[in-house]
Amino acid sequence: MRLDKLLSQMGKATRSESARLARMGKILVNGTPVKKSDVQVDPDKDEIVFCGAKVTYKEFTYIMLNKPEGYVSATDDPREKTVLDLVDPEDQRKGLFPCGRLDKNTLGLVILTNDGEGAHRLLSPKHHVSKVYKFEAKLPLTKEDVASLEKGVDIGGYFTKPCSVTLTGERTGEITLTEGKYHQIKRMLEAVNNKITYLERISFGKILLDPCLKRGEWRYLTKEEEELFTNQQ
Ligand code: URA
Repeated sequence: MRLDKLLSQMGKATRSESARLARMGKILVNGTPVKKSDVQVDPDKDEIVFCGAKVTYKEFTYIMLNKPEGYVSATDDPREKTVLDLVDPEDQRKGLFPCGRLDKNTLGLVILTNDGEGAHRLLSPKHHVSKVYKFEAKLPLTKEDVASLEKGVDIGGYFTKPCSVTLTGERTGEITLTEGKYHQIKRMLEAVNNKITYLERISFGKILLDPCLKRGEWRYLTKEEEELFTNQQ
């Protein structure tokens, strides 16, 4: 592949920046400075050093982020801070986007990737990938409320699919969904005359939010988690 394309995909430099840096001798391929950035390289064999740092090419990037409040699940927004703003500029990759959405005030697990096909598979309703959310409600939930939520409620013209609700206190619990409609849990609680006061996603399929990640922190998925991401149905 072309060197400047590789560097752009890895979020290192735009094509014109690569051309400029190559002219300055800042890009080495197998130890030799290249004068032009449009040369062909083999990402599996050639050693590329960009401004003194080795660049390892990976087609796809997978990031686990612990989303804090106040960030929108979008790639850019004219007014709001986005989940991508939490990733350091040197770790940005072209095409990185959040796999699924959490509301601005929802916390917890967000996976960022540039693997569009993988994300699409995971989000597709036909794969029934489950997501677990910790919640706190304004009012205590009755047994009848739990039964209604689990069976499915009308959230304004849409009847939610069966789900599971486990209470951990009068007003707190975990809810497992296999779908993701807009504001789904908030609207489900409203359907039983209650209100969500806290919402945090703690798992996405078999991938669990790493308890070591503080709010706003992120890390790359491990090899095992990457496999869970690409293989889970
Ligand atoms: N349900 C909601 O209401 N909000 C979220 O962010 C996720 C699920």
